[in-house]
Amino acid sequence: MGVSNGLTLLEGETTKAAQEKASFSDHRQLAHYLSLLCFLLTIVTLLQTLCLVQIMLTSQSQSSLQENKLQELTNRLEKLNQSHHLLFAQYPALNQYCPINNSSTGERKCRPCLTDWTLQGEKCFYFSEDRADWISSQYLCMSLGGAVATIKTEEEQEFLFKMAQSRSQGDSYWLGLRSSAVDGTWQWSDGTPLENGPQFWEHEPDVTGERKVLCGRLTPGDNYRKSWFSSGCSGQLRRICERRQASLQ
Ligand SMILES: *[C@@H]1O[C@H](CO)[C@@H](O)[C@H](O)[C@H]1NC(C)=O
Ligand SMILES: *[C@@H]1O[C@H](CO)[C@@H](O)[C@H](O)[C@H]1NC(C)=O
Ligand SMILES: *[C@@H]1O[C@H](CO)[C@@H](O)[C@H](O)[C@H]1NC(C)=O
Repeated sequence: MGVSNGLTLLEGETTKAAQEKASFSDHRQLAHYLSLLCFLLTIVTLLQTLCLVQIMLTSQSQSSLQENKLQELTNRLEKLNQSHHLLFAQYPALNQYCPINNSSTGERKCRPCLTDWTLQGEKCFYFSEDRADWISSQYLCMSLGGAVATIKTEEEQEFLFKMAQSRSQGDSYWLGLRSSAVDGTWQWSDGTPLENGPQFWEHEPDVTGERKVLCGRLTPGDNYRKSWFSSGCSGQLRRICERRQASLQ
């Protein structure tokens, strides 16, 4: 009985010790896990911090990169603006061909002909509303930087005829066309003989008759192929002026 009691006691103590031991090892394990957790948390925090620092550094370097870019672009704009102003100050004719299109932005639009002139092929044409004799018409066109119109192709003839038709109100227009007092042959005012190109006389002028200087006019009737007439040069007519389209050559 005593022995059995003692054994039971011993057993009880042994169990208690085992239990204590087990709980101790539990605690140790828990502490172990906790320190592992702490370690992991520290690592994660460190990584996060590193990431943040990285992002800050990157965005800082990006914004300073952008600032540099902006500064560079501003400098380039400044230089372009200077060249632009210099160009328009040194070549005032550019203002005629490239007038400011939008006064708030200073935007310009370039075009090959001046206002009131119409482009056809490589020439700009101007149709006057006032009248003058042939010689004065030459001077008037020259004062605009051009000459009385010459017609070298059928295309030009058709175009000028149609333009004249739409605005003549019954008037005729001087062409840069005149006969020679010496042999009665016709030439354009730039010196080209008429016979080198197409002709659109209403009827062929008589070159064998009297040697009187005559001038050529365009009278828009029904047929563009038959719309040139020879005419006394002192007649008061409208005029067509021509100019080369804008070019810097
Ligand atoms: C360009 O230059 C002109 C005069 O030089 C100045 O008035 C204008 O403000 C400048 N524009 C820009 C965008 O810098
Ligand atoms: C600007 O250009 C457009 C098209 O080229 C034109 O219709 C407009 O009238 C112009 N504006 C001015 C103020 O010249
Ligand atoms: C001029 O340019 C500004 C800015 O692009 C625009 O808002 C305005 O309508 C333009 N004005 C004309 C007359 O085209």
